Amino acid sequence: GRLDKINIAIDGPAGAGKSTVARKVAKELTYVYVDTGAMYRAVTWFMLGHDISSDETDRVIHAMRELHIELIPGEECQQVIVNGEDVTDYIRANHISKNVSSYAKIGPLRTKLVEMQRNIASSKGVVMDGRDIGTHVLPQAELKIFLTASVEERAIRRYQEIKDNQQVTLEQLMHDIAERDRQDEQREISPLVCAEDAIRLDTTSMNIEEVVNQIISYCRTITDGA
Ligand code: DC
Repeated sequence: GRLDKINIAIDGPAGAGKSTVARKVAKELTYVYVDTGAMYRAVTWFMLGHDISSDETDRVIHAMRELHIELIPGEECQQVIVNGEDVTDYIRANHISKNVSSYAKIGPLRTKLVEMQRNIASSKGVVMDGRDIGTHVLPQAELKIFLTASVEERAIRRYQEIKDNQQVTLEQLMHDIAERDRQDEQREISPLVCAEDAIRLDTTSMNIEEVVNQIISYCRTITDGA
């Protein structure tokens, strides 16, 4: 039969355009956009602020009990609230980006965030972006997209985003992105990998609109039964 609303999983490496694309797809379909990377960033922000290193796994797991994350969906961006404090603007900082993968390796931390993510998606009509959404968080998602782009292209996009505070070179960004890919792909629990039933989209030479339209047309073939 015809499906009313589906869940869409969008995975891929850092800088492939997931969040921009996912947000626009959600807006177009009037779905809820969920940025799971922001949840891992919020945890990282909290732990760094409490001087809890990612090596101290027991302290991390213990601190998770006192950590409450709220996601408030919005048109432009999703607001992230940690224990009542709006951290949306803090979690994009470079020192968070650099540290987040080492916290994201911790199994019990992931379990807790995945549980939250599944709850949010239980009512359908969600566009969720991350690394393990199609493979682990929502294996039943009706549409799975794996977005990629070359390391160079992803570094250039990131560079253009942050070129106002020129503290980092393109070479450094390429290095950081390649390093984050490596950590995300090689971690033991839920590594970044394309789900078997995901559609792989290489966006290196596509613009955002083309990617968004492509995904929406995949979605319509499912919901309209075309
Ligand atoms: O999408 P992002 O760059 O904001 O994600 C930040 C980090 O969080 C990324 O390096 C890996 C981790 N992450 C993850 O392990 N699983 C997810 N579902 C989303 C992000």
